[in-house]
Amino acid sequence: MRILAIESSCDETAAAVVDDGTVVRSTVVASSHDMHEKYGGIVPEVAARMQLESVIPVITEALRPLRSSAQQSVSDTITESIDAIAVTVGPGLIGSLLVGVETAKTLAYTTGKPLIPVNHVLAHMYANFITTDEHNRPNEYYNAVSFPAISLVVSGGHTELYVLESPRAITWLGGTIDDAAGECFDKTARLLGFGHGGGLAIQNAAAKAVKQKTGLIRLPRPMLDAKNALNFSFSGLKTAILREVNALREKNEMNDNTVAILANEVQETITDILVKKTLRAADKYNVRSVLLSGGVSANTRLREKFASTIGNAYTLHFPPVPLCTDNAVYIASYAFFRGKPADWHTVNAVPDLEVEVKYGTTPAANT
Ligand code: KG4
Ligand code: ZN
Repeated sequence: MRILAIESSCDETAAAVVDDGTVVRSTVVASSHDMHEKYGGIVPEVAARMQLESVIPVITEALRPLRSSAQQSVSDTITESIDAIAVTVGPGLIGSLLVGVETAKTLAYTTGKPLIPVNHVLAHMYANFITTDEHNRPNEYYNAVSFPAISLVVSGGHTELYVLESPRAITWLGGTIDDAAGECFDKTARLLGFGHGGGLAIQNAAAKAVKQKTGLIRLPRPMLDAKNALNFSFSGLKTAILREVNALREKNEMNDNTVAILANEVQETITDILVKKTLRAADKYNVRSVLLSGGVSANTRLREKFASTIGNAYTLHFPPVPLCTDNAVYIASYAFFRGKPADWHTVNAVPDLEVEVKYGTTPAANT
């Protein structure tokens, strides 16, 4: 089954064509990241305008490899070569979501193809099921997933734990009660002067920390106690980081060395929390594998820490870096494995779409 997927939940506009939820035929991502740099964060209005500008060129580009002639229109290519259209309906920014959703509805209406609404957060984990890239090269990270599996989705807006009995049977176990881990990385990056560079900027700065000095700053690891077993909280950590930055400024000690030490400690703290909670869930549910996904799962320290802590206890899966951050490949994969076609009249953007999936609920109820 060949699915064209469209993703526009935040500041990326993406389209992809994926066969049977696993084989990538094309993937295109346009980002308005740089536009937000000068405002110090994502401006929803700017993001939505950029989505409008990008959506048709991005879809056209994603369909290019399928065209039977250079003149073939988008609608004709879909009619001839695509079996279904998938689209992110939430959670996300309303203005951004509307662009993808309304475009997908129009394409479904004009071509008569089924339309599959997709939950962005649940979809992230399906990046672990992708076997090849768009050049037909095997995905070097791919290993068939053994179930049950614990899945950590960790991104700019979410930090959620799920247990999967199969690619279709998902149960939510816990998540952040305030900020997401990615947001903590992003705020720290801004505080330390790395602008909109986010977690990658922190990862790069941390790599420069002098080993002997890494213990000089110590941050709290919130909610590691058993009472809050599978929930996360990162807002207190954000405050603690701000306090450290202010203290360094007051002492006139903000320099490359202290910034690297603080970046390293932030990364160690966030990764300690993510590893500990995820493995607590893995032990509790007696699973066979652990799946990482979402933008923060691109973090090399997080991957290393999971690998060394897990050892042979479970099989660890994480996607290649371009599939961790927002794209439309995993939207198509989710649609294949778990999506349910819906009448296009009934498909709407839902900015606060639920990410808690109760055991036994059907995909239609929580797309
Ligand atoms: O999944 P994603 O692209 O968008 C959301 O759905 O939120 O995730 C973006 C998040 C940002 O917070 C970004 O700072 C973080 O992923 N991120 C990283 C790294 N690369 C991206 N965090 C830590 N280390 C990285 N290497
Ligand atoms: Zn995302």
